[in-house]
This record gives sequence, structure tokens and C-alpha cells, in this order.
Amino acid sequence: MWRADREHADSRHVAGRRRRGALAGLGLLLIAVVVVSLLLRHERAQATLARALLQTYPQDVTMHPALVRFAQAQARPLYAKYCAACHGADMRGNVVIGAPSFLDHDWLWGKGTVFQIERIVLYGIRSGNPKALNVTDMPAFGLRGQISDGQIQELVQYVMKLSHRPYDTEAANEGDMLFHEDRVNCYDCHGADAGGNADYGAPNLTLDIFYNGGDEQSIYNSIYYGRHRIMPAWDEVLSLEQIRALAVYIHEVAKNAPPRPAPPASAAADDSVALN
Ligand code: HEC
Ligand code: HEC
Repeated sequence: MWRADREHADSRHVAGRRRRGALAGLGLLLIAVVVVSLLLRHERAQATLARALLQTYPQDVTMHPALVRFAQAQARPLYAKYCAACHGADMRGNVVIGAPSFLDHDWLWGKGTVFQIERIVLYGIRSGNPKALNVTDMPAFGLRGQISDGQIQELVQYVMKLSHRPYDTEAANEGDMLFHEDRVNCYDCHGADAGGNADYGAPNLTLDIFYNGGDEQSIYNSIYYGRHRIMPAWDEVLSLEQIRALAVYIHEVAKNAPPRPAPPASAAADDSVALN
């Protein structure tokens, strides 16, 4: 009797263990199904966003916060891998090669729309790609013997004045005349007011933004040796989706960068910073 009871209890125990085992297995299976379906849903959502990113007109992407978030997430690792070496991990550029900062609210080419940024990333600037932006270069005025060393020094002082920094008045006045002279023709590319030309990629010289360095020696070197800044083309390295994601990312970072302090009013600055 006692033994039968024990056998009965044992078999109940075994049955209970089996039931619990089966339940646990079912639970695990359920969890696996949920995880897999969540992953699939995530992947489908990513694929939908990727399609939408490509199908939306570049400039309109910024009106869809979900698309912007998707583009930013795609672009961050791409930027670190392909762009940071020249433009800097902090996006502040590199004066050695003249790579622009993206945080200064100034664009060399166009107005920094997603569409314009995308074309630059696709085909580059002076990259050798037939569709690259390539209108002109900064000429090597000194190297070619077009102007003398003294004249370059005068132009440097004029550029210092234009960018609201301390300058030598007499030299700057001479530089001003040279800048607007037909033989030297700085104005032809940089504009009579030195405000730059976004169709030529000629920098605005009045903002104190110099991608090749704004100290007197660097400005001298720009005028003496000229510049030939190159931005590579990425159309054969990255997919269109990746390039669009990068364009949206850079557009957003640039737009949200802290505002630059306004330059001092030029007349007042001329009086206050002249060295003599
Ligand atoms: C080998 C160095 C180099 C690399 C790598 C590089 N760039 Fe550039 N990039 C430049 C230089 C130099 C310029 C300035 C060209 C000029 O003066 O017109 C430039 C210009 C640009 C401009 C135009 C800025 C303006 O003010 O109009 C954009 C946008 C840009 N780069 C985006 C990128 C992106 C995105 C990547 C990564 C996929 C990248 N660059 C990788 C060197 C580089
Ligand atoms: C044919 C057009 C052209 C002429 C003429 C020209 N520039 Fe430039 N300049 C450019 C371009 C384009 C750049 C951008 C750099 C490049 O070419 O890679 C530039 C760059 C510069 C820079 C460097 C800016 C920076 O971001 O660091 C300075 C300084 C400058 N020019 C001053 C002058 C002065 C002064 C003259 C007249 C003696 C002059 N330029 C004449 C087209 C021109």
C-alpha cells in the first residue's frame, strides 16, 4: 500500500516534470517566434525607409523626421569611415588640404541644399570625374611671376582688412587697388566686394573663414602657390542610398550648428583695427 502510494506519487512527479518541461519549451519557442518576427518587422521597416529615402526628392527628405533619423543612423558610420579623414571627426575641416568645415554656415558651392551636397558627394570637386564641379582654380600668382612678392604682401593686408582683422592701412590700400585691377583680377572670381562666387567655388574672403588657413603666411601661400583643392567622387564607392543618407546628415548637422557671431560692421572695424 505504502509502496503503491509512492509509485503513484513518483509517476505524478514525473508527469509534472514533463508538463513543466513541455511548457518551458513552448515558452522558449514563443519567445523565439516573437524575436524573429520583431527582427523581420524591423528589417521590413528599414527596407521601407531605405526605399522612401531614395524615392523622396532630396530636399523633401528633411520634412520627414523618421527619414532624417534613418539617414543619420546610416550616415554616421559612413562619415567616420570615408569623410572624417579629410573633414575631421568633429566636422571642422582640415587646413592642410583645404577641406571645409561643415559647421560654419558657409558653402563654397551653391547653398548647401541636400540636392547640391548629394551631387558634390557623388561626383566630387576637381576629382577628374566628368560630372565633377570644376570651373576654375586659385591661380599661382607668385609662382608664375604675375605679381611681385611686395604686391602679394599688400594683397595679404587687404585680405586681412576684408576679414575684419588687424591690418596695415597703407599696404591694404595698395592691395585693394591690385585686387580690383584687370591685370590681377582677383575680383573676377571672388567678386568686386570679395563676397565669393558659389558658381565657381571661389571663397568669400570677408567672413574670416579660410579653409587653407587664415593667418598671414597661409594667405600668402594661397596667393603665391595657388590652390587646387580636390574633393573625391564617391559614385563608384558608395551606393546612391548611402550618398543620400550622407547628404541629409551633413545638411542637418550644418543647419543645426551654433550660429557664427556677426562680423563687425566694416566701417567701424576699419577704424578700430587698423595698425597705423
Ligand atoms: C581626400 C580628402 C577628402 C575626402 C576623403 C572627402 N572630402 Fe569632401 N572635400 C574635400 C575638399 C578639399 C573640399 C573643398 C573643395 C573646394 O575647395 O571646392 C571638399 C568639399 C566638400 C563639400 C562641399 C562643401 C562646400 O562648402 O561647398 C562637401 C559637401 C563634401 N566635401 C562632403 C564630403 C563627404 C560627405 C565625404 C565623405 C563621403 C567627403 N567630403 C570626403 C576633401 C575631401
Ligand atoms: C580664376 C579665379 C580666381 C582668381 C582670379 C583668384 N582666385 Fe582666389 N580662389 C579661387 C578659388 C576657386 C579658390 C578655392 C581654392 C581652390 O582653387 O582650390 C580660391 C582661394 C583663395 C584663397 C584661399 C581661401 C581659403 O579658403 O583659404 C585666397 C586667400 C584667395 N583665393 C585670394 C585671392 C586673391 C588675393 C586673388 C587675386 C590676386 C585671387 N584669389 C584670385 C579662384 C580665384
